[in-house]
Amino acid sequence: MADTERGPRREYRTDQIAVQWEPEYCIHTANCIRSLPEVFNPQDRPWVHVDRAPADAIAEAILRCPTGALHFRRLDGGPQEAPTDPTEIRPVRNGPLYVRGDIELRDEAGRTIRHDTRLALCRCGESRHKPFCDNSHRLTGFSDPGRIASPPADAGSTT
Ligand code: SF4
Ligand code: FES
Repeated sequence: MADTERGPRREYRTDQIAVQWEPEYCIHTANCIRSLPEVFNPQDRPWVHVDRAPADAIAEAILRCPTGALHFRRLDGGPQEAPTDPTEIRPVRNGPLYVRGDIELRDEAGRTIRHDTRLALCRCGESRHKPFCDNSHRLTGFSDPGRIASPPADAGSTT
């Protein structure tokens, strides 16, 4: 997954797990930092200390990254990431659409621009990294509660 990259990818590894971080997709939600601060510390250089927690804990924290900026590959026989099935799409209040699943994102010509398990897609229209969110919604004060309208009464009907 994450097989089409735009930015430089950094890798941090032990014998148990390899962690990849693509800064271009990171929108600083801090989910990783809150989950495992001893491993993900933005004050440090490098900021990922893959040797400070068990591989299971690191993998669990990485699965909380909503953008796909962080990924892991288990080297110890532990479980690899399984795409969410069925695919989930969730609007974030005043922010992007979070998508989870086996996602193949294509441009208008049908070319794959990202194949990933987690994505944050811009819904404010101001990103300079479209179709991905780059946090421009914060600068522009995008405001939308992300409510989903009720489906029409006959939605899902096969007749
Ligand atoms: S959880 Fe993902 S998007 Fe959020 S700060 Fe960590 S790497 Fe960046
Ligand atoms: S929703 Fe984040 S930049 Fe548009």
